[in-house]
Amino acid sequence: MWWRSSARGLKRVLWPEFRRQYAMQSAPQALARVYVTRRVPPDGLRILRQSGQVQFELWDSDDPVPRKELLKRVEGVEGLLCVLTEKIDSEVLEAAGPNLKVVSTMSVGYDHLSLPELKKRGIRVGYTPDVLTDAVAELTVALLLATSRRLIEAVEEAKTGGWGTWRTMWLCGYELNQSTVGIMGLGRIGVAIAERLKPFGVKRFIYTDVAPRTELASKIQAEYVTMDELARESDFLAVCCALTPETQGICNHSLFSKMKKTAVFINTSRGPVVNQEDLYEALSSGQIAAAGLDVTTPEPLPPDHPLFKLKNCVILPHIASASYTTRNSMSALAANNLLAGLKGEPMPKELKL
Ligand SMILES: NC(=O)c1ccc[n+]([C@@H]2O[C@H](COP(=O)([O-])OP(=O)(O)OC[C@H]3O[C@@H](n4cnc5c(N)ncnc54)[C@H](O)[C@@H]3O)[C@@H](O)[C@H]2O)c1
Repeated sequence: MWWRSSARGLKRVLWPEFRRQYAMQSAPQALARVYVTRRVPPDGLRILRQSGQVQFELWDSDDPVPRKELLKRVEGVEGLLCVLTEKIDSEVLEAAGPNLKVVSTMSVGYDHLSLPELKKRGIRVGYTPDVLTDAVAELTVALLLATSRRLIEAVEEAKTGGWGTWRTMWLCGYELNQSTVGIMGLGRIGVAIAERLKPFGVKRFIYTDVAPRTELASKIQAEYVTMDELARESDFLAVCCALTPETQGICNHSLFSKMKKTAVFINTSRGPVVNQEDLYEALSSGQIAAAGLDVTTPEPLPPDHPLFKLKNCVILPHIASASYTTRNSMSALAANNLLAGLKGEPMPKELKL
């Protein structure tokens, strides 16, 4: 369905009818055509509707638009507002055609976008950094604590009769106090996680990145170390790097085999940074103590996946940014990026290609 902004509110207009209507009027008739690939939170849709700048078609569902449908719907659009489940590659860009000026993703991660293809076509890209940093950092801390202090196991035991008397070593876990926390990829989220963990009495923060990030690291007095040192010295290792060809599968046997047997591994970045077979091996053999994952490969992870069988593995369904405030802010920023890009103005958050 096509939606056109109007002073009287929403009006549903079929595209051919819309085109006929407007073809008969003189300029400035052309509202930019936009395709929105998902039912995004209301703030973003409101901004698009009230802009008076675009007419948009929405895949009005909580589930991803089927690929075939996406390829059909993008034809001729000037703007595309997408989420991370849509792979925006040469096929989609070809299907859209030369009118496409802006792709705005409601995510900070952009591994689903083919950047060289976008750059080649001069298409501008908007994304949503910063607005989700606090929510993701908060969830990462929650996941870390749930994993290290075995909260899911404990709740299960309490509910199912495993709770006998108070026992001295039962359900013991690992505490943050006096620990070394390692961060793989010290960006916005990595720093925000460290800031939240500091008051728990963490003794030392260490990190790896493509190069030292002196300014960010000084906020949390973090030391730049090699991957080997990160693996060997971390009591808690949080993965916060972007997914790139270099980071794909970077958390593998080589990394896990160097980690402490008491170490807790946390990933809230992207599933493919982890080799899941190697992680399963590390967890089931006692090479590391536990893992908490907000992201997996694939997503959703099938319920019969071996990782779900492990008590020392806590798996969440990719909810790190899922607070009402943050998801609305992401959708508003994605809409504002799109509108600014279509006007040829600086976007609030543009990805430099
Ligand atoms: N689970 C979720 O719902 C969720 C939500 C938001 C973001 N994320 C993920 O978190 C990532 C980080 O977000 P951010 O806002 O902190 O981004 P950011 O760009 O500020 O930080 C990413 C960091 O990763 C580093 N990095 C890149 N390649 C690396 C490598 N080879 N080794 C080590 N470090 C490397 C970058 O230099 C940068 O410092 C996003 O790319 C996204 O994939 C996940």
